[in-house]
Amino acid sequence: MGKAALITGGGKRLGKAISLFLAESGYDIAVHYNHSEKEAKETAELIREKGRQAEIFKSNLSEIQEVRSLIPTVFEVFPECSVLVNSASIFENVGFEDVTEEIFDRDFNTNFKAPFFLSQDFSKGDHSELIINMLDMRINKIETEHFSYNLSKKALRDFTLMAAKELGPKIRVNGICPGPILPPPDKDIHYLEKIAENTPLKKPGNPDYIISAVEYILNNPFVTGQCLFVDGGQHLV
Ligand SMILES: NC(=O)c1ccc[n+]([C@@H]2O[C@H](COP(=O)([O-])OP(=O)(O)OC[C@H]3O[C@@H](n4cnc5c(N)ncnc54)[C@H](OP(=O)(O)O)[C@@H]3O)[C@@H](O)[C@H]2O)c1
Repeated sequence: MGKAALITGGGKRLGKAISLFLAESGYDIAVHYNHSEKEAKETAELIREKGRQAEIFKSNLSEIQEVRSLIPTVFEVFPECSVLVNSASIFENVGFEDVTEEIFDRDFNTNFKAPFFLSQDFSKGDHSELIINMLDMRINKIETEHFSYNLSKKALRDFTLMAAKELGPKIRVNGICPGPILPPPDKDIHYLEKIAENTPLKKPGNPDYIISAVEYILNNPFVTGQCLFVDGGQHLV
């Protein structure tokens, strides 16, 4: 058994793209999922077809007990797990007045508390080397739509910087801040094209641009505490 990576939400969308890229880069893959078992199994099968080992791990990241058992379980199966990608996330468009305690807790538990404690547990591993947190270009804006979502990602950005300082030299910690890369499941490409009209590069992205950022972070051992915006410049406007 060789080097391995855990990708939360690794069975679909950007998480799937990252899982497949890391498999192609020589990693065995722990594919985490919550509801999407079918997609996680399909992604694991694609990884095996690439000649790497893959196992799926179910965990509801809004429940702290399930968060705390994930890394120990993954380390049992993949003792040489050296990369953690925190990609799973809840994306809800709720304005300030409509944020209930339930919504606030769901956003913060899944998008901030889970990556925090997964990182803490992961940092104790003998082979742990790299954490990548999937953020959002919105962290650079004072945007009041997606109120608690954006706050949770802003907290995760500061955690990324603090963890990079705390966990060096053993572990590098970096973030990626996507812009319009994939439309939400209930929207199509026109949604992204409309958003992209107001960005400097005036075009939507695609998962390949995120993979390019993952590849850069993975292969540059002198980079830590960076949050790389991959958004066609959307964070500037
Ligand atoms: N797509 C974009 O253009 C874009 C833009 C900005 C930022 N981002 C960030 O990039 C990352 C990946 O984005 P994405 O669009 O591919 O994914 P996404 O649709 O934002 O996230 C969906 C994933 O999160 C998992 N998830 C949600 N709630 C969970 C919970 N309670 N417990 C465990 N897993 C949970 C889902 O797992 P199950 O389906 O198995 O339940 C699913 O795999 C996210 O962090 C997102 O915020 C993406």
